[in-house]
Amino acid sequence: MATVKFAGIVKNFKDNQVLKKVDLEIKDHEFVVIVGPSGCGKTTLLRMLAGLEEVSGGEIYIDDALVNHLHPSRRQIAMVFQDYALYPHMTVEENMSFSLRLKNAPKKEIKARVTEAANILQLGKLLHRMPRQLSGGQRQRVAIGRAIVRQPKVFLFDEPLSNLDAKLREEMRVEIAKLYQRLGATIIYVTHDQVEAMTLAGRIVIMNQGVIQQVGTPIEVYRKPANLFVAGFIGSPTMNFIEGTLRVEKGHVRFASPSLSLDLPASLLAPEGSHEGREAVIGVRPDDVYAGREAGRNCSQKFDSVLEVSELLGHRENLYLKAGELRLLATVEAFFNQSPGSTVPVCFNFENMHVFDKATQRRISA
Ligand SMILES: Nc1ncnc2c1ncn2[C@@H]1O[C@H](COP(=O)(O)OP(=O)(O)O)[C@@H](O)[C@H]1O
Ligand SMILES: [Mg+2]
Repeated sequence: MATVKFAGIVKNFKDNQVLKKVDLEIKDHEFVVIVGPSGCGKTTLLRMLAGLEEVSGGEIYIDDALVNHLHPSRRQIAMVFQDYALYPHMTVEENMSFSLRLKNAPKKEIKARVTEAANILQLGKLLHRMPRQLSGGQRQRVAIGRAIVRQPKVFLFDEPLSNLDAKLREEMRVEIAKLYQRLGATIIYVTHDQVEAMTLAGRIVIMNQGVIQQVGTPIEVYRKPANLFVAGFIGSPTMNFIEGTLRVEKGHVRFASPSLSLDLPASLLAPEGSHEGREAVIGVRPDDVYAGREAGRNCSQKFDSVLEVSELLGHRENLYLKAGELRLLATVEAFFNQSPGSTVPVCFNFENMHVFDKATQRRISA
């Protein structure tokens, strides 16, 4: 069993509070991805769990045992760092076996564990190489191998793929998913890449400025972002946002902005008096903006826009559109086949629309 619990965790570096009362419980065998922009406190949180950084306030538990003051070597946690942190003067085999040799584990056991990890990670042929003789991807594998060999209760990954090029990053992402299925370990994985978060996580924790914004499955945070930050962070390309004012009318809410007015279905936003006059932001993902023929097929409240630029991605195409002062990105089926400057009818998929309160930034739609 290996559960982790952060209770009211605070971290101050002098007068800079970088973690502000973080509460998070991680279940046994869970793959949790912590995602957020650079500097939001992800590494600091992992380092405190590993015992490499002091806690300023709150408690950390591993398997219900308070570990705030437990020495790192006794926490049974293995961390894989972004920069790999391999010992340059040791071979792959020596790097992988280092922690076990330090603990004077029996030679036979060391050999067995290193061999097993090398098999899992396809490092068998590289055991006698030095780190400088390895590619970036291979070094990352060795760093992961070094963690596996220790058979930790919890694996911590700190942006393990961010130094790899795009293609290798995709390959390693799949390998890490397979590794998780094979080891069934508890994993806490930190990244600033929302694609990694969406694809790997059982649950995603979205952080900003030392505060957890939302915790949920990838689908939950994608479909029901709790606030504007999560809405803008999760999903690629980024969601379109339109600012306006809400007016409660007979049986529905009307959204009014200088370039656009829309009747919102009651299923999206109940027509309550509290919405009257509220400053709001509606969010629509590029996939939920129907343009051209798609608009003809799908919807009622159509309006005209002008095509500024299109980007062909392969089977999809990004359309940068302008309706009055409003700029919109629509992702549609290729090939759209229209020149810049042409008029394009547009409408929204109201089923996947999001409404936020501008002042509180919180989601107010269903
Ligand atoms: N040892 C340190 N001393 C002072 N400030 C630090 C230290 N480590 C991190 N910070 C600050 O704490 C904040 C969070 O850093 P970090 O946890 O590394 O963020 P992330 O991993 O999300 O990019 C940043 O503002 C960073 O500058
Ligand atoms: Mg970091």
